[in-house]
Amino acid sequence: MNTSPCAAKPPARARHTPAGARGATTPPWNLLGTGMAAAVLLAACGGGGSDDIAFDQAALVEQGRKIFRYDTFGDEAKWTDTLRMHEVISAAVDPVTALSVGLKVDAEALPAAVVDGIRAGTVDLKSPATTIALLKLDAVVGLKGRVETINGQDVLTQVGITCALCHSTVDDSFAPGIGKRLDGWPNRDLNPGAIIALSPVLDAASKQIFTSWGKGKFDPRNNVDGLSKPVVIPPAYGLEGIHRITFTGDGTELAYWNRYVAVAEMGGQGTVDEPRLNLHITNGTQDLVTFKLPALQAYQLSIPAPAAPAGSFDGAAALRGKLVFEGPGTCATCHSGPLFTDANTRLHPPEDSMAEPETPSYASRTATKQYRSSPLKGVWQHAPYFHDGSAATLSDVVAIYNRKRALGLTGQQMADLAEYLKSL
Ligand code: HEC
Ligand code: HEC
Repeated sequence: MNTSPCAAKPPARARHTPAGARGATTPPWNLLGTGMAAAVLLAACGGGGSDDIAFDQAALVEQGRKIFRYDTFGDEAKWTDTLRMHEVISAAVDPVTALSVGLKVDAEALPAAVVDGIRAGTVDLKSPATTIALLKLDAVVGLKGRVETINGQDVLTQVGITCALCHSTVDDSFAPGIGKRLDGWPNRDLNPGAIIALSPVLDAASKQIFTSWGKGKFDPRNNVDGLSKPVVIPPAYGLEGIHRITFTGDGTELAYWNRYVAVAEMGGQGTVDEPRLNLHITNGTQDLVTFKLPALQAYQLSIPAPAAPAGSFDGAAALRGKLVFEGPGTCATCHSGPLFTDANTRLHPPEDSMAEPETPSYASRTATKQYRSSPLKGVWQHAPYFHDGSAATLSDVVAIYNRKRALGLTGQQMADLAEYLKSL
């Protein structure tokens, strides 16, 4: 008997049949609703009839958005059971403190009464109870809390993190740190190390490592090799068409790294195997990751790099800068094609990164031991630059290339090149 879910695929019209109806061994797709189950099944089995493809794709992207924003993959086991973050949040993390470590609030999740209360100053932003109220509203970007009413009081009994914690920010339209979500934009205000260091179970030495990382950075290799040298949180937009994922091109598709992060970094329930790093992790007894990967990837691929805001660069200078980029700057020899990267054809030795040599070398801690030429669409948006954030501005990037690669560009050429980068 063929037990493949593809063989058992229902006709397109029946695609909203609850997943649970298909057999006793159905994975826990129904946790996410039947749309998710259908979308995942269709993705895994190559999609439905051609007239359904657009619909299937839109449904998949929408499910992926939900996963990206709200799914913890069961990582409460790490953030609640192990790190006991729910206790710290309840005791000491009022909204002012939360905003100060870079957490963002989704203004669209706030009911009018709360918005009015914040405006009028009647919502106490110095009380952890307000943070719990925000978590109850699902309004803290990237944090997912379970709030239960115990003896008439709201108590935070569980907390976990989602992809949006690091890879979303807000547009500050309501107040600094409070606004509409901008998915895919790296949260460079977020201080993940400082947040982890709030955990009451960590010893002083670990806390010292985490607090040394700083804003907008995280070390996704630290829990594997024990070394500490964080990298900047990169954007999760503009990745359609790029088949080398991460700074070092470790994976050929997003799902590779999405699985890695969900299990190895976030602590989600599932498995990751990376023989090149001799890494084998299984958290828990169920897999809450694998069946979500197609939708999660589809959502990320649907997020374009943001265009440069009008008036943010000098158009005439940018046009001249393009000629420098393609000519004497030699930038286009690596940042080639419409995505400004040669990632799909080659990776580069460590010395091609202007941030190297560094100790320890980030490349040396990864699967490929090389670097990918960074795609440059939307590069205006996410200073600082290079994997270690060592170039504060695009002008600094240009100056560093000019010096290290002995390009001999004039001051005018360097200024024009920086304007061009701002326009991408
Ligand atoms: C604690 C912060 C944090 C969280 C949470 C996080 N990431 Fe990341 N992410 C990073 C950092 C740091 C890197 C850079 C690693 C590298 O490239 O070597 C990264 C890299 C990536 C990349 C590679 C981008 C590129 O240019 O190739 C993708 C895609 C990504 N993350 C997606 C996700 C998804 C999906 C989730 C949720 C499952 C997630 N991340 C959760 C910090 C985070
Ligand atoms: C030999 C190949 C090569 C050449 C030539 C090259 N780059 Fe790069 N570029 C890379 C690599 C590899 C990275 C990733 C380095 C890192 O993250 O440490 C990178 C990163 C960058 C970044 C940082 C992007 C980010 O997301 O942080 C910018 C900006 C950039 N390059 C612009 C330029 C400009 C401008 C030139 C020409 C003056 C140039 N590059 C020439 C390979 C190259």
